[in-house]
Amino acid sequence: MWSEIGLSIVTWFIIFITHWLYKWNNPKCNGVLPPGSMGFPLIGETLQLIIPSRSLDLHPFIKTRIQRYGRVFRTSLAGRPVVVSADPEFNNFIFQQEGNSVEMWYLDTFSKIFELDGETRMNSLGSIHKYIRSKVLNHFGAECLKEKLLSQVEEIVQKTLRIWSSQASIEVKHATATMVFNFTAKQMFSYDQEKSSEQISDTFTNFLYGLMSFPLNIPGTTFHKCMKDKKKMLNMIKNMLKEKQTSTETCKGDFLDQAIKDLNSKKYLTEDFIVLLSFGALFASVEAISTALTLAFKLISENPSVVEELRAEHETILRNRETSDSALTWNEYKSMTFTTQVINEILRLANMAPGFLRRTLKDIQVNGYTIPAGWTIMVATPALQLDPNTFKDPLAFNPWRWKDLDSIVISKNFMPFGGGMRQCAGAEYSKAFMATFLHVLLTKYRWTKIKGGDVVRAPTIGFGDGIQIKVSEKA
Ligand code: HEM
Repeated sequence: MWSEIGLSIVTWFIIFITHWLYKWNNPKCNGVLPPGSMGFPLIGETLQLIIPSRSLDLHPFIKTRIQRYGRVFRTSLAGRPVVVSADPEFNNFIFQQEGNSVEMWYLDTFSKIFELDGETRMNSLGSIHKYIRSKVLNHFGAECLKEKLLSQVEEIVQKTLRIWSSQASIEVKHATATMVFNFTAKQMFSYDQEKSSEQISDTFTNFLYGLMSFPLNIPGTTFHKCMKDKKKMLNMIKNMLKEKQTSTETCKGDFLDQAIKDLNSKKYLTEDFIVLLSFGALFASVEAISTALTLAFKLISENPSVVEELRAEHETILRNRETSDSALTWNEYKSMTFTTQVINEILRLANMAPGFLRRTLKDIQVNGYTIPAGWTIMVATPALQLDPNTFKDPLAFNPWRWKDLDSIVISKNFMPFGGGMRQCAGAEYSKAFMATFLHVLLTKYRWTKIKGGDVVRAPTIGFGDGIQIKVSEKA
């Protein structure tokens, strides 16, 4: 009898597992799902996505699936059903659907933090998004750059390069992250690295470094230390906020001062939200700009003809001035044609993340398939930026290609800052920062690479052991 009971338990178990596996691989859908595989139950295909790839090329996870299934395919990542799209028309449609049939995933996270539901959720999220966007644009947008930031960026770049040139060597990712941190934190909460008792930039760059480690949060791991650094940063920002609230000193008008002023007038604002927002803007800024500058060093160092043409453009700017050591002006920045092409080419190849995430609010039809409500869509713009049909020989660093590219082709296939109403609020600041950095570097300094320069996609871009360079003043 026991053997019969045992046999029937095993049979039921096999039926249950088979049914579960069938349901996992064939999720509910009011139509036909895009082709693809949901991978293993629970983990889906997450492991395949985080396997490091040592090339600037599209991560193999996306490349092989586009070859196998086409430009729109389904998968499962980090426990969520996902549709990846490398279809330019569909991607544009998604960018236009913001708040209608899709929403940004970070807003999904915010709504959970604030425990919002139904109508309140939609109304508040709209206001929260508008608030974040307007605050970042107020402090880092084109008007602010024109009025004051551009010359301040030039000053910090000059100071930083002077320090680098007095050192035996520097590691580019760490050193540029520290520079961007010191500048951005000054705008955010009047942080003064020279007067500060704590080296917050070290905590922050350690946090960035830890993000590239395996996400195992147990004592002793790099990731655990990274989470501790994040907590330390959030506490520091919270303490600064408290200090500012009780201080009798005159308000400096930085990002944090403005947010404190808004606390009473905007009902969705809380102290914790302001702390998270400040940390988020700091993170977006430091990680993205330092990554772009590190890749710039790698690519231009490997292409002396690009350095030569860049140098010529920046020396012409100096020659055309009445006084050669006057500050960089907005018109000079806007006149940098070749530098803009170089920056575009760096951003085209950088593809810092494998794509942008959206969550579907209703069923969406694409090319005869249905993406169910509640699914995640990954808009895989890197696939377009590395498409050989649009960008010939796509892995070649060729800034001159931008001379001949049609503006409509560019707008549909080149989206390093996203698209539609969620387009990056820090885009102009990032481009101006990079252009100013190149201006000072090329007119006053020379550099030689000592070692390093490997690129790793896992799936966000990283630089392995980094890039060591020696910077010297031009003779
Ligand atoms: C090379 C530098 C940068 C790159 C490549 C970049 C890229 C992006 C991308 C692709 C998006 C859209 C994400 C999406 O649609 O899901 C975005 C949004 C955003 N970025 Fe950046 N970013 C950069 C620098 C910055 C900086 C320096 C700041 C802040 C000063 C910033 C603040 C933001 C904000 C606030 C948003 C959200 C905009 C919105 O929802 O309306 N970014 N960024």
